[in-house]
Amino acid sequence: MDPAAMFTDADAAALYDLLNPWDPGRRPGDAFYHGLVMAAGSVLDVGCGTGAMLHHARGEGHAGRLVGLDPDRASLARARRREDVEWVAGTAADAAGQGVVELATMTGHAFQCLVDDDDLRTSLAAVNGALCPGGRFVFETRHPQARAWEEWRPSNATAVIDWSGRELRVCHEVESVADDVVTFTESVLGPGGGVLHVARAVLRFLDPPALDAFLAGAGFTVEARYGDWHRGPVTGESVEIVTVARRDQRAAPSPSTTTATPTAEAPAPAAL
Ligand SMILES: C[S@@+](CC[C@H](N)C(=O)[O-])C[C@H]1O[C@@H](n2cnc3c(N)ncnc32)[C@H](O)[C@@H]1O
Repeated sequence: MDPAAMFTDADAAALYDLLNPWDPGRRPGDAFYHGLVMAAGSVLDVGCGTGAMLHHARGEGHAGRLVGLDPDRASLARARRREDVEWVAGTAADAAGQGVVELATMTGHAFQCLVDDDDLRTSLAAVNGALCPGGRFVFETRHPQARAWEEWRPSNATAVIDWSGRELRVCHEVESVADDVVTFTESVLGPGGGVLHVARAVLRFLDPPALDAFLAGAGFTVEARYGDWHRGPVTGESVEIVTVARRDQRAAPSPSTTTATPTAEAPAPAAL
């Protein structure tokens, strides 16, 4: 790490937005979610990060309840720049305490941050508990068959000019691949090549059968499954697994780590 250089967690959140601008006009994944969000009366975005999706929805005239939930304080501080959206510090396991919504989302592969089985079960049950009967949970996860992590190497670094005109490079390096769990680092390098910031991440790559078993166990029915952002099927070439899961009409399993339960039930949302 270059001790002379300052690169804060707030800078890392700003860099995330620079590298991943929310733009439904240009990015098919953003367009996919934007349509769902605008059609839903209320939305909980789990793992909302810097809040760009809900910022955009409100800016485009969404008039209903919008809630962003994320454990990362620096990202949430950025999200809070827009005050007409509710922002909550917490993990997916805290979702059931946020009231009842028609649509829950996990975008930007946030779902893959749920790594161990217990956290997956607790988190999915909590998201289920945040939905009205018939409400949808929509998220994407990278298909393990595409082995995305094989591209995560320093030679594939991304160059970017930051807000102060510095040329930075962002590079990834895999530490381990153990079954379906990949551990890697993301490093930000300054103009002279010095390391400004390092973040370590652990992601799980579930295949469709494993995903569906977790969803069924948490009270979801898979309503639609896509292999791309244009609603094509999952094939042997798919890079993404996009899932639309509907909360079963039966009572959701109660999340073990949350005490709050929804007190009001919103009407079931319209079909997608
Ligand atoms: C790659 S970012 C995606 C952010 C945003 N959804 C987007 O589309 O740009 C993943 C986010 O998941 C959040 N996260 C990590 N663990 C989580 C958990 N257990 N529950 C909810 N969110 C989590 C991180 O803090 C981070 O903001």
